Amino acid sequence: MKTMPSVSRLLLGACILLAVSTMGRRNGGTREPPGPNMCMVQEVYGTGEKFFTHCVAKHLKMICERPTFVSWDCCSGYDRERGQQGCTKEKPLGNLLDTAKELGLRQFTERAAMANLTDLLENQGAFTVFAPSDTAFRESTAYEKSLLHPTDGSPSLLLYHIAPGKLSLNTFRNRNQEFVTIYQDKKIRVNKYAYGVATVNCARIIRPDEKGTNGVMHVIDKVVKPLELQGNMAERIFSDDRYSKFQMALFVSDMVNQLRQTGKGYTLLAPTNSAFAKLPSELLDRILTDADTAEKVIRHHVVKGVYCGDAIVVSVGLKTLDDGRVLFRCTKQGLLANNARVVDQDLVASNGVIHGIDEVLLPDSVKEPSDLLDEMHVKRFMELTRRAGLEYRLRNDSNVTIFAPTDEAINALPSRARAALTNEPLAMSRLLDYHIVKGKLTENRLIGDLELDTGISAKIKVNVFRNGVAINTAKALGPLRECDKGSVQKINKVLVPPEKTLMELIGDDRDLSMFKQAVESSGLSDLLLREGRFTVLAPTNRAFSYLNQWRLDQMMNNPARLKKFVGRHIINRMIAECEIPASSTYGIQSRQGDLTVFNYDTRGNLLVNDLIKVTQTDTLALNGVLHKIDDVMKCSCERGVTMSPKYQHRTRGRRHYHRLRH
Ligand SMILES: *[C@@H]1O[C@H](CO)[C@@H](O)[C@H](O)[C@H]1NC(C)=O
Ligand SMILES: *[C@@H]1O[C@H](CO)[C@@H](O)[C@H](O)[C@H]1NC(C)=O
Ligand SMILES: *[C@@H]1O[C@H](CO)[C@@H](O)[C@H](O)[C@H]1NC(C)=O
Repeated sequence: MKTMPSVSRLLLGACILLAVSTMGRRNGGTREPPGPNMCMVQEVYGTGEKFFTHCVAKHLKMICERPTFVSWDCCSGYDRERGQQGCTKEKPLGNLLDTAKELGLRQFTERAAMANLTDLLENQGAFTVFAPSDTAFRESTAYEKSLLHPTDGSPSLLLYHIAPGKLSLNTFRNRNQEFVTIYQDKKIRVNKYAYGVATVNCARIIRPDEKGTNGVMHVIDKVVKPLELQGNMAERIFSDDRYSKFQMALFVSDMVNQLRQTGKGYTLLAPTNSAFAKLPSELLDRILTDADTAEKVIRHHVVKGVYCGDAIVVSVGLKTLDDGRVLFRCTKQGLLANNARVVDQDLVASNGVIHGIDEVLLPDSVKEPSDLLDEMHVKRFMELTRRAGLEYRLRNDSNVTIFAPTDEAINALPSRARAALTNEPLAMSRLLDYHIVKGKLTENRLIGDLELDTGISAKIKVNVFRNGVAINTAKALGPLRECDKGSVQKINKVLVPPEKTLMELIGDDRDLSMFKQAVESSGLSDLLLREGRFTVLAPTNRAFSYLNQWRLDQMMNNPARLKKFVGRHIINRMIAECEIPASSTYGIQSRQGDLTVFNYDTRGNLLVNDLIKVTQTDTLALNGVLHKIDDVMKCSCERGVTMSPKYQHRTRGRRHYHRLRH
């Protein structure tokens, strides 16, 4: 069992074959070799070995969380000459056996001679040789050693390391390609991954593309065996006692056939028995007896594509068969799949690869809403729910959607509201109740302008916008997570049920008395009392005080003009602050037809039409949202006539005049 990352995974080389004689200098960050025929070698600190791989676009600063450095060495086929910069001595090209000797592959050379392959490697071809390093031979199992030198006259396993034709690294195009070898025509599997990593039956190519007159040689870090000898994934699991619980789940789920199928390659993360032992007994029972649950869990452990351990040098998120995701990470401690440790790496099978893991990866679908909440770290919400005596609802309710505000959201409540929340059980339970909605919301039901019924008259308004989803004025954080009983959505604000309509909000706010008068005189107050989803940009009394009083009076007495004026302050759509993009503008027509553009200035102030500051955002009403602004919305037809922004800013505070036409 290998728990530490193999040495080869710690090393990643990048070779830049530059046969030009540019001398060492740095050019705007691109590194040039310090002499002719020098190749860049990448090494991980703490190891002395050097690795040449094919040219990769990007050098990783960290490999498996360890720092790397690069140095220069002679490209293959070249040597240093005394007194010369770089590697100026070109060596004559020999046959494949010469190449092996040149590379110091003593074991390979000796064993090739023992297997009578000398003539083949010297005089025949062209061949591609996957030559195991000396270490690889030393670490090979007794079984592999017996196959390398069979006593019954059958061919040596070394032949499995030889394929007809010249297959240089850049001919391996696909993620998953198989090539016939000269070992009973059995195939080997080559996989190519990011950062120039390539494997052969999960053995890492540690030195590719070494030429010989009659072929090409790739040095690999393991002795490999025919895929057929290893069986398919199901067979490998069923022949290993460490996976007996997983075997049971496979039987229950009827997934055995899927793991037997050949063709497309898969990666199976197989939880060991000790992984299953960590599960709560109720869940364990369900997985080992209920076909549906077992299948959901198993599908969450299978990834399409063959990902050998060495494929992961940093991290990669992969989709599982159930459309879930699993994040593979290479750390100093070894390989992780989500938070599970890979304890048994690279069990190669004919139709994929298996990694044993020490934890069962549970898909959301088999969890409880309360499990999802636990994972979201919404501690304050959970604590308040407990104190309000509503905890049972998180466990017992089904067909439910829970909106869970973050700890920060609860702490950001005005202190008075927070105090009330913690001291008045009734208020607390009412508020929390508003976050637990009947009916399970799903990703596919999240469309358009949804309204969710709550226990009270105030519905929850869901709004899907370009960069996310708004729940009332809160922003959905992360994906909606669904399980059998319900869905859970993390949000960035506490949902406070609105009690008033927009018109009532305007009427109750002394700071908006001028605007109230304008709305009432314009005849639009009915609109703002009705059901709907409006945005009101409400100018404060101070905003009105900047206006030419004579013209204002004139307008107030002209209902038609006033209606257009008020119409510029209403948008027939609910726009919460969280819907305004952080670094671009958001333009929408007002009820009157004028373009209303929202954006943030460099100091993070929300502005409307570049000039008008939004002084208070997101006051929620039963029929929309209200934002207070510090100036009135002028008719766009007049914008050319109004003062220049600069001038206007300078004169702000003094009384200045806008023309109010329509
Ligand atoms: C190699 O060839 C020699 C002579 O041709 C023969 O005696 C020996 O058995 C062969 N060894 C193998 C492993 O085939
Ligand atoms: C919740 O469910 C459990 C068992 O499923 C039951 O014992 C308990 O009484 C329920 N609680 C409430 C408040 O309904
Ligand atoms: C879930 O709740 C919603 C809303 O109350 C209801 O329309 C739907 O029929 C329920 N579904 C099930 C399966 O109970």
